[in-house]
Amino acid sequence: MPEATFQFPKGFLWGCATASHQVEGQNTNNNWYAWEQTEGKIRNGDKAGLACDWWGGRWREDFDRAAETGQNAQRISVEWSRVQPAPDRWDEEALERYRAMLRGMLERKMTPLVTLHHFSEPLWLSEMGGWESDKAPALFAAFARKTVEALKEYCTLWITINEPNVFAVSAYLFGEFPPGKKDMGAMIRVMANMLKGHALAYKVIHEIQREARVGVAIHLRSFWPAGPVKFLDSIPANVMNRAFNTSFMDALVDGKLRMVFKTVNVPEAAGTQDFIGVNYYTVEMVRFNLLKPGGLFRDGFYDPQATLSGTGFIANMPQGLGQWLKWAGKFNLPVMVTENGVEDAEDRMRPQYLVEHIHQVWRASNFVAQVKGYFHWSLVDNFEWERGWSQRFGLWGLDPATQMRIRRPSVDLYDAICKQNALTYEMVAKYAPASLAKIFPG
Ligand code: BGC
Repeated sequence: MPEATFQFPKGFLWGCATASHQVEGQNTNNNWYAWEQTEGKIRNGDKAGLACDWWGGRWREDFDRAAETGQNAQRISVEWSRVQPAPDRWDEEALERYRAMLRGMLERKMTPLVTLHHFSEPLWLSEMGGWESDKAPALFAAFARKTVEALKEYCTLWITINEPNVFAVSAYLFGEFPPGKKDMGAMIRVMANMLKGHALAYKVIHEIQREARVGVAIHLRSFWPAGPVKFLDSIPANVMNRAFNTSFMDALVDGKLRMVFKTVNVPEAAGTQDFIGVNYYTVEMVRFNLLKPGGLFRDGFYDPQATLSGTGFIANMPQGLGQWLKWAGKFNLPVMVTENGVEDAEDRMRPQYLVEHIHQVWRASNFVAQVKGYFHWSLVDNFEWERGWSQRFGLWGLDPATQMRIRRPSVDLYDAICKQNALTYEMVAKYAPASLAKIFPG
């Protein structure tokens, strides 16, 4: 079907996603700051430092960039350690800055989507045992109450917790995020406490704001059996899929967190989401390996046919997004792509990745799910956790030393998509000709 235009529904949200510690800079009271000061934890010894200097006020110029290039929404997160610098202290000035940011979005006609927990937590919470502590859920709910009370004038769309699965696995099983543990029991405890924290926060937010729409952004990494013996490979693939991808979201339906060898009952979590937040990046191929019990009997690798990103971190596999949106449709709730993007300093693969993934979003929104928005990760290059500054996910490049922004070609591509609320043949031909045959076959 050459020359087609894939039109999105009226009111579709187009934006970028960000997280406090990755963009604000000068966050010195959270677990990531402490982690960055510990030798060997971050690639090349990088530090978030000033990051994109949003705390210094550069959110204004970046929101201008977003609005001028057609975006009508923006996802940010609130830094818990700023709002509650000590267990018995709230920082009203910090809340006022977030209020200013949200006003800044509304003035630029961008709908805010606010996340309350995106990987970072106050140092005082870490010192109490972080999310392993049974006190964490109630403490998180108190923080949610304070923050939502302060911001409710400007925002009705909330994500309680970003990627509880990545947080629990990276911090408590792989040891890559603070506190660097490798303990399956701790990982399951953290998932369960996050579920409890989410359930409490969900209720708190609705108490404060009846019209609120509250969800979780879940990281969905596809695990596909590699073959040739697909039936064997599908055993570890299914286990990974259930334990990592779907367990948390299923628990939001029936209150049961089913991990591989253990089910934790959290009945209060049942029925606590108003939309499904999908964070999607890539597909991993899985091969059964009897010699790797620690790796859940599997080898993981990228499809040798797929195009790989700059540092080999992501394979361009848009079909995975299509499958997850179909899965999300089964919940019978609105769906939002709350993150999707690729690290690509040279912007060689990003245009192709963008058009092919957005094409999948269009297909899903027409046929299988009520998709309401797409948030690209990310607006400007930002601090990529344990990978430091070695990966560049921004539509805009950043030199963290000078704070100079660099306009990558993908800015203009995304601008065209957002402004026309559509993906067209001309856009693909101009920015990602290699994708023409995939998107417009025949
Ligand atoms: C996280 C982001 C991160 C992105 C790219 C997601 O899992 O939510 O914070 O920057 O992946 O690495």
